[in-house]
Amino acid sequence: MIKINQNFLKLKASYLFVDIAQRVVAFQKANPDRRVIKLGIGDVTEPLPEAVLSAFHAGVDEMADRATFRGYGPEQGYPFLRERIALTDFQQRGADISADEIFLSDGSKCDTGNFQELFSLEAKVAVPDPVYPVYVDTNVMGGRTGPYRDGRYEGLVYLECRPDNGYIPDLPEESVDLIYLCFPNNPTGVMATREQLRQFVDLARREKAIILYDAAYCAFIRDESLPHSIYEIPGAREVAIEFRSLSKNAGFTGTRCAYTVVPKGVTAADEEGNEVELHHLWMSRQSRKFNGLSYPVQRAASAVYTEDGQKQVRALTDFYLNNAKLIRRNILRLGFDCVGGDNSPYIWVNMERDSWTAFDLLLNEAGVVSTPGDGFGKCGKGHIRLSAFNSYENVEAAMERIARVL
Ligand code: MLT
Repeated sequence: MIKINQNFLKLKASYLFVDIAQRVVAFQKANPDRRVIKLGIGDVTEPLPEAVLSAFHAGVDEMADRATFRGYGPEQGYPFLRERIALTDFQQRGADISADEIFLSDGSKCDTGNFQELFSLEAKVAVPDPVYPVYVDTNVMGGRTGPYRDGRYEGLVYLECRPDNGYIPDLPEESVDLIYLCFPNNPTGVMATREQLRQFVDLARREKAIILYDAAYCAFIRDESLPHSIYEIPGAREVAIEFRSLSKNAGFTGTRCAYTVVPKGVTAADEEGNEVELHHLWMSRQSRKFNGLSYPVQRAASAVYTEDGQKQVRALTDFYLNNAKLIRRNILRLGFDCVGGDNSPYIWVNMERDSWTAFDLLLNEAGVVSTPGDGFGKCGKGHIRLSAFNSYENVEAAMERIARVL
């Protein structure tokens, strides 16, 4: 009989957000009259910005006319969108990234998950702890780890993010090949300074390692001294891949548009020690495994980069940040330590008790869904993550309910 990829069996029983959703469904079934407020998964609640919506409609209309109809597009995306992204997200911030280094996709989850395919199974991988589970699980499925024991996979290097280091990972103490970083961080919401990022970039250049930098939440940065892109750090172009998404800033979680930046000149070695361009490998991978995004979605996405679009996206992220501020204020008032929420839609709360116990308490007693820190790794123990993606009224109500039970 054909054999399975045995590595899949190493995965924990279920994906964190599926696990949480099942608990919420069970709670709703048992308590049909209770209104649950969701501050769990980072899913946006506000509709698409007006500029995006009208471009989306126009794109659909073009598909209705033989003269403007489009069939297969370029897998890496239409130039009209890639050019706008390169200009607005990078060149205007002083980062030297060109349109042909941008690869559009349907999500940063897929891209951060798929990118590990480019590297050998011997690559030593470092991940933060707590961590967005996709970085870990895709390396597990790929076969780059041993079994899961005592809350961690053997073979991975965990970079601990604890209260005493401000939840910013220290540099790895052993030599690693691939380093996953995420700033503003999911789940903790903290943001690294230029200096902290520079240390990672310098290490990667010294060790000939690659940084996979997830910047899906960079539109929430308000402290202008903080870098929006890793390419604002000198030398990062040589060693870093950056992942961006329109999900959280422009409300595309249901519409789907993201992109990955693969600068020319980022290389890794083949078996003979020759340097191979990752740009070339990712292009090969994407053209063989990915069909590109739909034309109307790319039209909609390009409206994000118009003057109106930029203003509307700013207003949307301001809206969620205002919720985040409310959450932070209330959590601190209740006497709990927390980080995040100022340059991020996530607030990481030190509950000083088991995180699934805290999750169950908030769900069962307050009817509020959070995300238990444990689900993001060993260092998440004792914490929960609260997300600011909801209406202001719901966040207000959730905080009142939480105050009553804590
Ligand atoms: C999260 O809640 O961590 C995110 O929504 C997950 C994701 O974007 O895939």
